[in-house]
Amino acid sequence: MRLHVADHPLVAHKLTALRDKSTDSPTFRRLADELVTLLAYEATRDVRVEPVDIVTPVCPTTGVRLSAPKPIVVPILRAGLGMLDGMVRLLPTAEVGFLGMLRDEHTLQAMTYATRLPEDLSGRQCFVLDPMLATGGTLAAAIQFLFDRGADDVTAICLLAAPEGVDLLKSKFGQDAPVSVVTASLDERLNEHGYIVPGLGDAGDRLYGVVS
Ligand code: URA
Repeated sequence: MRLHVADHPLVAHKLTALRDKSTDSPTFRRLADELVTLLAYEATRDVRVEPVDIVTPVCPTTGVRLSAPKPIVVPILRAGLGMLDGMVRLLPTAEVGFLGMLRDEHTLQAMTYATRLPEDLSGRQCFVLDPMLATGGTLAAAIQFLFDRGADDVTAICLLAAPEGVDLLKSKFGQDAPVSVVTASLDERLNEHGYIVPGLGDAGDRLYGVVS
């Protein structure tokens, strides 16, 4: 498992505004969208391309285009939806699948409650969108779900990550697994309520408001 923390002043600037509790929902959504596009640039560094012959107004030349099968982008419901537009802006030809996951209150295990994904993900590069890598349980289950369907490699894009979640992914998938996490910040820790510290609060609530 590889961790990439984006080190860029614009990333830090947008993240600071996201963390600020006085930032309202519309501004939070816009900033999250912009931040995801910056993270997506880092996350797609190894996206597969193939050579293509073209003709410029001056002469024939060779460039590249995305290889088939196209990558697939998978937001984890609900908060991952707030990252989708920012991601597909950079990868407009990617397919989009959906994964709804929640934690069983008794077993504390992450379980899948909704899926809209191809049965066969063989040879596919997958980009999972989940704003907060906290304990890592949900993201680990989502990544395992994609591998079970044959995914080739999985890159998770998270606005923030906690060391506890990163450690869980490292121990579950090991050093050499084709799993990457790209984030704007590796924060300090989780608090006793499972929130990332200093964090930004509940990402779903800040994007979409509190649903009672
Ligand atoms: N999920 C959130 O939305 N925020 C956290 O800090 C941790 C998990």
